[in-house]
Parts: sequence; structure tokens; C-alpha cells
Amino acid sequence: MVPEVEVKIAESSKKLAKSAAKAMVRLIQNAGTHRFDVALSGGSTPSSLFSRLARKHKESIDWQRVHFWWGDERCVSPESSESNYKMAFESFLSELEIPEEHIHRIKGEANPEEEAVRYGNEIREHLNSREEWPVFDLILLGLGEDGHTASIFPDRMDLLNSDQICAVAVHPQSGQKRITLTGKVINNANTIYFLVSGEGKAERISEIMNNDEKAFTLPAYHVLPVSGKLTWFLDKDASEMI
Ligand code: 6PG
Repeated sequence: MVPEVEVKIAESSKKLAKSAAKAMVRLIQNAGTHRFDVALSGGSTPSSLFSRLARKHKESIDWQRVHFWWGDERCVSPESSESNYKMAFESFLSELEIPEEHIHRIKGEANPEEEAVRYGNEIREHLNSREEWPVFDLILLGLGEDGHTASIFPDRMDLLNSDQICAVAVHPQSGQKRITLTGKVINNANTIYFLVSGEGKAERISEIMNNDEKAFTLPAYHVLPVSGKLTWFLDKDASEMI
């Protein structure tokens, strides 16, 4: 099956969040009564999507069917302002009364190498597989100004073809340790949403959308679901150089 790629450009980051929230809710509704496994992204961009889901879509779907995972996490405690879990929990999960056992957080406070193995095993235990790789129903991703996604940075392109589900990475500037999903499990998802906002991302977006030579050195360029659908949700500023 040829992967499907769609680009949606919104007038503003607020409208980007509105469009992505609507699409996500429709996707979960269309999944029928089945369990739905979604991996959340971190950083700042998804926070307006998350708060919109809590404010506008609390009743739209049976959130009890949804299991929440993370595409990556910073190796910090869940109380830290750097924690992707904390951001998602405070901006929407706590509002939706999700059963604790449906929130599969990456333990950023644990030993990174051991946690990468543990989280990979938890994913394998819970998710269906295709071609021996776990299948997420939806993975949310962001884009760094250096072209990284999840915590796959340009100096670790090998993680795109890792045979592990999760790996330990290091932020090239801050040196902060991260735990991240790797390329094959990301590209095995049924649906992937990139949420990208702001002029700081415009050059990378232009390189990726125009298949520039430079794009090959960007981890985000290599995100293409093997048999699923990829949607780029961009705001006007991020798309201004396409
Ligand atoms: C993280 C992310 C990372 C993020 C990009 C974009 O933990 O930081 O998962 O991949 O999506 O760095 O971050 P912003 O949305 O803050 O620009």
C-alpha cells in the first residue's frame, strides 16, 4: 500500500490546534469501539491541541477506549517542567478522567537504558503487531529547528533503522538524555500527525516538502508510514517558504 501524505496549512497556531483536534477526534470515532493507542509528542507545540481536546472534545468520544503513550520523554522526573508527561497530564489527561492503567508514561526518572528496554517491552505486550513491529493507531510528532523529530536527532540517524522499539538519545545542545521511539515503530503506525508551528521551522519544512538534498540529513524527512497515512499540520508561518 502506498503511504498517503497530506499537508494542511492553518492561518494560525490556534487554528492548527483546532484542525488537528477535529481530525484526531474523527479518527478515534472512526476506529469504532476498539481500543485506540496514541503516542503523544512533547515540546511546546502540542499543548494548545491538548487543551483544546479537554475544553471542546470532552464529550465527543469515549475517552475510556484510548490508551496514551509517548513518542519520547526527557530523562527528568514527572514533576519537572521539562516533563512531556506532566505537560500532557496537566493540559488534558487529568481533565478527561483517563483510567491510570491507560496512561503509559515513559519513566523519565528511571535509569535511561533500562527504561528504554522496559518501555519497549510494555509497548510490545499491549499493541498489535504488523511485520513483527508494534502498530500505533496514531503517533503525534513535532519538528525541531534542526530537523529532529521525537528525540531522533540529526547526529543519530541510525535510530531510524534501529531494531529496538525504544532507544536512549542525547540532546545535541543541552546534553539532556532522552528516551525515544525509533524509526521503524514510528513508520509502522496507521496514522502519523506532524504538528509544526512558527517561522523557526519554515526552512526545514521547505527542505522536506521540496525534497531538497539537505532533507536527507533531517530525521523528520524519513518519517513515512509504511502502510498508513501521514498528515502535516502546519501553520502559515511554518509553511511560508514552501
Ligand atoms: C520533545 C519533543 C520534540 C519536539 C520538537 C519540537 O520532547 O522536545 O518530542 O521532538 O516535538 O523539539 O518542539 P516544539 O514544539 O517545542 O518546537
